[in-house]
Amino acid sequence: MRKPFVAGNWKMNKTVEQARVLVSEMLPGLQAVKAVERVLCPPFTSLMAIAAMLSGTDIGLGAQNMHWETAGAFTGEIAPAMVKEFCQYVILGHSERRTYFGETDETVNRKVRAALAHGLTPIVCIGETLAENEAGRTAEVVSRQIEQGLKDLTPEQASGLVIAYEPVWAIGTGRAASGEDANRVVGDVIRPTLAKMFGNTVAEGVRVLYGGSVTAANAAEFFTQPQIDGALVGGASLKAAEFVKIVEAAA
Ligand code: G3P
Repeated sequence: MRKPFVAGNWKMNKTVEQARVLVSEMLPGLQAVKAVERVLCPPFTSLMAIAAMLSGTDIGLGAQNMHWETAGAFTGEIAPAMVKEFCQYVILGHSERRTYFGETDETVNRKVRAALAHGLTPIVCIGETLAENEAGRTAEVVSRQIEQGLKDLTPEQASGLVIAYEPVWAIGTGRAASGEDANRVVGDVIRPTLAKMFGNTVAEGVRVLYGGSVTAANAAEFFTQPQIDGALVGGASLKAAEFVKIVEAAA
């Protein structure tokens, strides 16, 4: 049985003080939903402050990205050990990193392996663009992102991953995929690709999330799907009451 999993990807939002306010507003509601694995992913600047606020709770903390090198002349980057000082999770391969910052399946793979080597749980983002979707290439693109992004992992390493299926055309648009369509991609493409690479047990055990315009109003449409185990939430995670409702819907 896969435990439900909901993460909030704050993206480039909230100063440290604003982050403290948001976390203090949502903490009581989040703490009450023990049946769901809950993770907050703020900007790097707030990780220390929020780690202190979450201390003693079972709410996880994640970074939104990291480099694969352990140290060195990589201006502006954050090393795995630096993420590990505050976080248990790290989002890798987000479409905004792929689109704006040149992230590739190859760099995602380097980062996934570095994250696992440092005891971090990668939340690996995959998903097709609108053009790829309209061209009927969703299965081709999503399976390639998995095959290339997760290559050279052992089944044991793969079993510890979380995968987020985020159709790019649904991110930030208010135009979510349908629960049925998302479920179909997970069941007919993502899990079979994982099974081919790592075996059926791993494929059935990995948590696969949906991301892309998830709200309190539509969350249940995804969480009631047999293949979907939770959500990676963007905009709605910046509203305390809304994010708590989404987490409650996953229980
Ligand atoms: O990583 C989650 C994010 O890409 C989804 O954003 O605003 O569509 O929920 P949003």
